[in-house]
Amino acid sequence: MKFSVIIAAFAAASVTFGIPLVKRAHITDAVILQYALTLEHLEDAFYHQALQNFTEYEFAQDGFDSSFYAQLQSIAADEHAHVEFLTAGLEAAGANATKPCNYSFPYTTPREFVALARVVEGLGVSAYLGAASSIANAQYLTAAGSILTVEARHNAFLNTELFDNPAPTPFDTPLGFSEVYSVAANFITGCPPSNPTLPVTAFPSINVTYANSTTKPLVAGSKVNITTEATTNSSTYAAFLSGLDTELVALPSNGSLTVPKTVAGQVYLLLVNTNNATKINDETVIAGPAILKVEAA
Ligand SMILES: *[C@@H]1O[C@H](CO)[C@@H](O)[C@H](O)[C@H]1NC(C)=O
Ligand SMILES: *[C@@H]1O[C@H](CO)[C@@H](O)[C@H](O)[C@H]1NC(C)=O
Ligand SMILES: *[C@@H]1O[C@H](CO)[C@@H](O)[C@H](O)[C@H]1NC(C)=O
Ligand SMILES: *[C@@H]1O[C@H](CO)[C@@H](O)[C@H](O)[C@H]1NC(C)=O
Ligand SMILES: *[C@@H]1O[C@H](CO)[C@@H](O)[C@H](O)[C@H]1NC(C)=O
Ligand SMILES: *[C@@H]1O[C@H](CO)[C@@H](O)[C@H](O)[C@H]1NC(C)=O
Ligand SMILES: *[C@@H]1O[C@H](CO)[C@@H](O)[C@H](O)[C@H]1NC(C)=O
Ligand SMILES: *[C@@H]1O[C@H](CO)[C@@H](O)[C@H](O)[C@H]1NC(C)=O
Repeated sequence: MKFSVIIAAFAAASVTFGIPLVKRAHITDAVILQYALTLEHLEDAFYHQALQNFTEYEFAQDGFDSSFYAQLQSIAADEHAHVEFLTAGLEAAGANATKPCNYSFPYTTPREFVALARVVEGLGVSAYLGAASSIANAQYLTAAGSILTVEARHNAFLNTELFDNPAPTPFDTPLGFSEVYSVAANFITGCPPSNPTLPVTAFPSINVTYANSTTKPLVAGSKVNITTEATTNSSTYAAFLSGLDTELVALPSNGSLTVPKTVAGQVYLLLVNTNNATKINDETVIAGPAILKVEAA
């Protein structure tokens, strides 16, 4: 099914500590604001479309009551406010603020939309966390933090609505610019040519399949099969990013991986060219991330 492809179009492991790094050379605060605005436009369109696509009644038929619907409208308004805030900030600084793109989101029912929404919010949290260490101006950092905490509460609310743990791990997961963009690019079908280009790359995707993928959650310690169009070899590693930890597992040629027992929540799976977690960056990533929703074993 389409949805699991995105989530999915998301052993004995050694535990290491490492945060995906990005090359900072071309990442100025203005670029980070354009990057944040690119993501906020995506979220804004995502909620706006869903509220147009489905009525309050249709949400209710899928098990989401009127208080949920009111909350959804509130989340949509937050995302729109983020767009206006970042646009105004960039324009005040004399920049041309990036404009919305065209998007295509893989859901057909309100329930599939909600399941995707909590992934999108989780990605937003990871994006702001990953960008934080590259922001030079303290006031911008505060503004980004102020958006980040709201995205985290959206994510917690949606997790709760889906009968999941609102905060499945004690730490959230920072994700680099290109890693976040690689997920967002799956939803973007075209952008105005006048938009500023971002110094990011969309990596090839990783397809993940696992037993009962449509009916049961993925439990830590269980097996998945992965395929990718990226070229892998005997020195390719699978990196599972969860909280502030990265678990590296050698990728066998048959693509069979065991999800480490220590990961949980919204886990990002990357294929990398290094077995050193501190060296995971745009130069060493070759595919991903795939996003896995993992339940503690
Ligand atoms: C903004 O866009 C206009 C029209 O494309 C262009 O002339 C101008 O140089 C741009 N400004 C900046 C700061 O990039
Ligand atoms: C939701 O709305 C968008 C934009 O109008 C449209 O492209 C998309 O197909 C709609 N999705 C559903 C499931 O109705
Ligand atoms: C976005 O979609 C509209 C309607 O299909 C189309 O006219 C427009 O050219 C698209 N814009 C971009 C930037 O792809
Ligand atoms: C992985 O692929 C192998 C070989 O096709 C198959 O036997 C196995 O059931 C698959 N495992 C999962 C978890 O999908
Ligand atoms: C990944 O899945 C998509 C959609 O099912 C498919 O079109 C693509 O060929 C798959 N890629 C690989 C490398 O398996
Ligand atoms: C594996 O591929 C990478 C490039 O993706 C290359 O740098 C490395 O030397 C290759 N390793 C082996 C053992 O072939
Ligand atoms: C995949 O390869 C690994 C290592 O060679 C092996 O231990 C495992 O049994 C294989 N799994 C499948 C599903 O073929
Ligand atoms: C991992 O890389 C870091 C620098 O990126 C280096 O300091 C460290 O020694 C490396 N660790 C190993 C085990 O090679």
